Amino acid sequence: MRYTDEFLQEVKDRNDIIDVVESYIPLKKKGNNYWGLCPFHNEKTASFSVYPPKQIFHCFGCGEGGDVISFVMKYENASYPEAVRILAERAGMQIVEKEESGEDRLRRSRSDVIKQINSDAAAFYVKSLRSVHGEKGLKYFKERGLTDETITHFGLGYSGTGGKEVVEYLKEKGYSDEMIIAAGIATNSEKYGMSSPFFSRVMFPIINIDKKVIGFGGRVLGSGEPKYLNTKETEVFDKRRNLYGYNFAKRSRKKYYILCEGYMDVISMHQAGFDSAIASLGTAFTEEQAAMIKRDRVDVYLAYDMDEAGEKAALRAVKILASVGITPRRISVSPCKDPDEFISKNGVEQFEKRLEDAENGFLYIEDRVRDGYDLSDPEERYKCQKEIVENLWMFAADEVKMSSYAASISERYGYPKSEISKLLEETKPREYKKAEERPAYGAYTPPKKSSGKEKSTYSSAESALLTWLTDEPEIFSVVRKYLNADDFSPGSCREVATKTFELLEEGKFSVDTLFSELEDEEVRSEATGLLQNSAPEIDTAEKRMEMLKDLIVNVMERKCEMLSSSDDQEKDLKIFNMRLEIDKLKSGKLNLSEEES
Ligand code: UTP
Ligand code: MN
Repeated sequence: MRYTDEFLQEVKDRNDIIDVVESYIPLKKKGNNYWGLCPFHNEKTASFSVYPPKQIFHCFGCGEGGDVISFVMKYENASYPEAVRILAERAGMQIVEKEESGEDRLRRSRSDVIKQINSDAAAFYVKSLRSVHGEKGLKYFKERGLTDETITHFGLGYSGTGGKEVVEYLKEKGYSDEMIIAAGIATNSEKYGMSSPFFSRVMFPIINIDKKVIGFGGRVLGSGEPKYLNTKETEVFDKRRNLYGYNFAKRSRKKYYILCEGYMDVISMHQAGFDSAIASLGTAFTEEQAAMIKRDRVDVYLAYDMDEAGEKAALRAVKILASVGITPRRISVSPCKDPDEFISKNGVEQFEKRLEDAENGFLYIEDRVRDGYDLSDPEERYKCQKEIVENLWMFAADEVKMSSYAASISERYGYPKSEISKLLEETKPREYKKAEERPAYGAYTPPKKSSGKEKSTYSSAESALLTWLTDEPEIFSVVRKYLNADDFSPGSCREVATKTFELLEEGKFSVDTLFSELEDEEVRSEATGLLQNSAPEIDTAEKRMEMLKDLIVNVMERKCEMLSSSDDQEKDLKIFNMRLEIDKLKSGKLNLSEEES
């Protein structure tokens, strides 16, 4: 699906970024920016900022940034065209698509092709399950109590006995070896040629919320290793950001999700009417998945296996969910091994009872902690209390909740309230001690990022000056008399300055053009932070110019510093000249005349 440029512009015009973001997360205005807790990483103090003049957002904690469309893409886990559609619908607009030319079709993204391959493969597996070769598979599903309806509902299939059939089938459909490999359906080796790792397995297609097949889990029949083989990570299969069963659960009318450990659990749960069961994808539950669930604003029940591995996984999931503000409840299916077995042995009603009796996630952690200590020993008892209280911080979104939980600890185990308060103070995590407020103007000293590729650093003055320049291009005629793009710190800051100066020289500057001409994704997301450091409202023109002068001086001084530690041959001369200029500026006023100075 492709949209016309005019349409895209109108979608942006009709969807103010503040309105859109506020429909997902609360924001607070401070200075010219709106701040909130970042929805893309876990944090306790707000470093997510939206800047209305440019209609951009940036998280100073995790570095995510972009415009209203990229916000919706990230938040809704949506593709670009989907995000545009969501926003268009929100604004009540008719959707206008561009005719797809032959060339466009060729250029259509690889991920569309990969999804198409997956969907064709899924169809192949389904057909194969119903053929003579698939009898074993069908029998297996039936023995596990699945009805035909369920098998169809989940698109379950059989891989075929060799690894070649599916490849042949896909090649006949016209897909290239390269794309079949990219989809994770096959690998190519000298010994076997093109062949699929999925053979003699029953197949579970993994379907995303847009109902597209993005990968598979394949289970051996009987015993064998590995029990489940999952599609490797591909361009469309991100195991951290998808969930099994989510395509159904998201549309369920239930007010809760049941998080299970395995594919089969999810399926038998749905078959029993619990159509909001989901599971992670052959890996442990992730923060990204927790964040997805959080957005759906529903309760979460954990229905993990009752063995030691299940306990561990449940504990982990409780903590991850707590970190995004969800207190899940843990369902016990004992004495059964897992919910699949429980449902088939005891039926729906019994499972509903277990749902009602599910234990609060915090109390569950508490019990697990206590199991680890010998409470008759005073030292151990103290350590145990402390660990329990420490864990409380994860769940205490607000003071009222905190005190209610503290009271329950006190009641349950007879720990005096005063002791608990003391321990709470002692174990207070650092992020609660940090001051909440951020300074206004020059607002912000950009953080030095420690992760990933070397990020550029820049000064607050540079960022404030560039923000101002891009908010009010009129000041360029003054700024260019004193500064070149090269005077800005190397890295993304200078790249942004260079592009900005270039566009301003040519009289073609607009925020959208700037962002579309910044080619490097990383520079773009840094730019959304760099360019939202604006000064507070200043009343008089004179004060404005005074502030502009300060910023320019500041950038020049920084440039001198950078020069002096560089190995530039002519640095002494350059620094000398710049210092002269700085002194002149400091003792006078900005040259506002139109002619070159
Ligand atoms: P389980 O072994 O509990 O799976 O692993 P299950 O769904 O209950 O399996 P059945 O009932 O024996 O068929 C839980 C989940 O862990 C992943 C799968 O996602 C599985 O559903 N897993 C397990 C793997 O990815 N690979 C494995 O080898 C085993
Ligand atoms: Mn299991």
